[in-house]
Amino acid sequence: MNKLDLSVDLNGLLLKNPITVASGTFGFGREYADYIDLNNIGGISVKGLTLLPRKGNPAPRVIETPMGMINSVGLQNPGVDVFVEEEIPFLRQFDTKIIANINGNTVEDYCGIAERLSAADVDSLELNISCPNVKNGGMAFGTDPKMVAHVVSEVRRVAKKHLIVKLSPNVTNIGEIAKIAEANGADALSLINTLTGMAIDINTRKPLIANVIGGLSGPAVKPVAIKLVHDVYKAVQIPIIGMGGIMKWEDGIEFMLAGADAISIGTANFVNPKVTEEVLEGMTGYFNKNGICSPQEIKGGVTYQK
Ligand SMILES: Cc1cc2nc3c(=O)[nH]c(=O)nc-3n(C[C@H](O)[C@H](O)[C@H](O)COP(=O)(O)O)c2cc1C
Repeated sequence: MNKLDLSVDLNGLLLKNPITVASGTFGFGREYADYIDLNNIGGISVKGLTLLPRKGNPAPRVIETPMGMINSVGLQNPGVDVFVEEEIPFLRQFDTKIIANINGNTVEDYCGIAERLSAADVDSLELNISCPNVKNGGMAFGTDPKMVAHVVSEVRRVAKKHLIVKLSPNVTNIGEIAKIAEANGADALSLINTLTGMAIDINTRKPLIANVIGGLSGPAVKPVAIKLVHDVYKAVQIPIIGMGGIMKWEDGIEFMLAGADAISIGTANFVNPKVTEEVLEGMTGYFNKNGICSPQEIKGGVTYQK
């Protein structure tokens, strides 16, 4: 009989199991605590934080698309101080890792929030350099190799926490960007953020999202995400949190076979608030059935046809 240990070590961040939730789709956990036991989740990546509160973009900022959704929330959040004072104590009631998703318009912003959170009770910082919904910063950093090197190394210098760098899919060579993040101090990588998208109302001829463009997520993006996780797996040594369209446990296994050490569930939470627990149960069943002792045993386990 195999003895399954579900824990995964993300290069210094130890998750009790490989299931995390994706930033921006789980708030600060409060809304979901009525539906699931937050103790069952390996880690919670909270809504993207900025130094000062942000109102976000004008509505409409979320629309449904075939097999997915486009959002342009624009990093609405109460600011890092409210997070530290009100949300960390709430999350700390649960045995789950707190991953603070950090954002900024400038390198100084990113460093400021990383410094502030280094003194706070969070387990990891997730540097979001891939948000398509802000005018300055965000994806502009994550798609330019020089800027990736600059922002990651500067944040690494001040951050006293485990550091995840969240990559954008909106690039030509994600392996190159991943290597740069690794070389400049990332402890782990997470991917993918949303793909840029747009939709138009044919009667009014107006974009369906007030900000014109937004980020596409959900099952429609999964094959793209699997491919990019596989590319990054081939390029770097550090652990990978894979995400993009995970709706069921089979998707989670597929991400691990592509090269992920852990997975993150986003859009699916809106459809089924219990999805994280269901995915954990299904993946556990798969590990047991196949005599697997640790989730990381199947990392990158895809076999190619001859
Ligand atoms: C409504 C919404 C808000 C999001 N906000 C953030 C955010 O604040 N920070 C971030 O790094 N990613 C954000 N994302 C991206 C997700 O964390 C995730 O990378 C992406 O949606 C792909 O996963 P999924 O297809 O499972 O949703 C957001 C996604 C959605 C749908």
